[in-house]
Amino acid sequence: MSFASRMSRVVASPTLRVAAEADRLRRQGVDVVDLGAGEPDFPTPEHVKQAAHAALDANFTKYTPSAGVMELREAVAHRYKIDYGVDFKAEETIITAGAKQALYNAAMVLFGPGDEVITHGPFWPSIGDQIKLADAKPVIVQTHMEDGFTIKAEPIIEAITPRTKAIIVNSPCNPTGALISEAEMAKIADAAKAKGIWIVVDFTYEKLIYEPVAHNLIKVLFDRMRDKTVICSAASKAYAMTGWRCGWMIAPKEVIAQCNVVQGHSTSNINSITQKAGIAALTGPQDGVTLMLNEYRKRRDAVHAALTADPRIVCVKPGGAFYLFPYIADLLSPSGLTSSAEFAEALLKDVAVAVTPGEGFDAPGYFRLSYATSIERLREGGNRLRAFVHKLEAAGKLAAAR
Ligand SMILES: Cc1ncc(COP(=O)(O)O)c(C=O)c1O
Repeated sequence: MSFASRMSRVVASPTLRVAAEADRLRRQGVDVVDLGAGEPDFPTPEHVKQAAHAALDANFTKYTPSAGVMELREAVAHRYKIDYGVDFKAEETIITAGAKQALYNAAMVLFGPGDEVITHGPFWPSIGDQIKLADAKPVIVQTHMEDGFTIKAEPIIEAITPRTKAIIVNSPCNPTGALISEAEMAKIADAAKAKGIWIVVDFTYEKLIYEPVAHNLIKVLFDRMRDKTVICSAASKAYAMTGWRCGWMIAPKEVIAQCNVVQGHSTSNINSITQKAGIAALTGPQDGVTLMLNEYRKRRDAVHAALTADPRIVCVKPGGAFYLFPYIADLLSPSGLTSSAEFAEALLKDVAVAVTPGEGFDAPGYFRLSYATSIERLREGGNRLRAFVHKLEAAGKLAAAR
């Protein structure tokens, strides 16, 4: 079959692929411990669900403006004013089907053939593939486990060429959980401003930061280069609303207008009922966010301690998001398994634990484990993982733990 040439440059989302395989096994009756999924296990907060029920009862079930209802766009502005002290108008926002569509809109509107777009790796796969779908070239600046995968300005600035159109920063980062500091963000902004380069921030995990660190990236960028700043975020992770598909972009109104053209010709508005739920999430009580964060912190600490008890597993304790990104090359080499993709495949097949192999994030030798699941399931997953490693050892495939 002959497809458009752009399709030869991209692959199916590896994170969704693992979810699909885990789902297939589950439907066969297998008790899968799913540590692959990047979504909160908590239910959507009650007041948010109530707003959706009310929308349905009021027959709020028709098309809305494709950029979203004004009340929701204003709710985004209201939330960021409270959280970050920044001012912007509803016309500087567009409501999207998750942060993913906000980022996709940005790629469609800003990038094109011959453009280079810098981002940091290991990275969430859609960032790279969306750049390619826009016929531009991703330029990956690697971050390193040895310094906690910290996102630094210098190598990003060094990667700028006359072709650089934009820099995408994902903080907190999926899969590493690393953050960029305000000072490093400022350095990147100063360099980008001098060269007329866009900065796109993937702020999807903005609410999932464990230590009280300064992370007001939007203010740092607005103070320096507001006319070239694009912020993409969502209700998905903060309010346990992944399935609702409620995200947004904050950008200069001219960018928003262009995104609205793309959206108007593709998806139109996001689900009308979701929009009412989104308003409740952004304007209602925020204590649920803190409760979930506190629970994630406990899980992070427990799973990190359990994993790193085996000296062959090296793992940075992440500052944000809800993933651990262990390095297992020392486990792999003597095991007969040649890649973390094989490791993940065998783990799912042998002990029904789903994790996402590092290859999906351009980081072979690692795997991503999501701790957005109950502590009981995490414990069960940990036990099975240990049993799996012991099985490899017993088969003589691994040197015993040092
Ligand atoms: C880094 C990153 N950006 C964007 C998204 C997309 O989020 P949403 O579900 O709101 O589209 C995800 C989802 O996993 C993500 O990990």
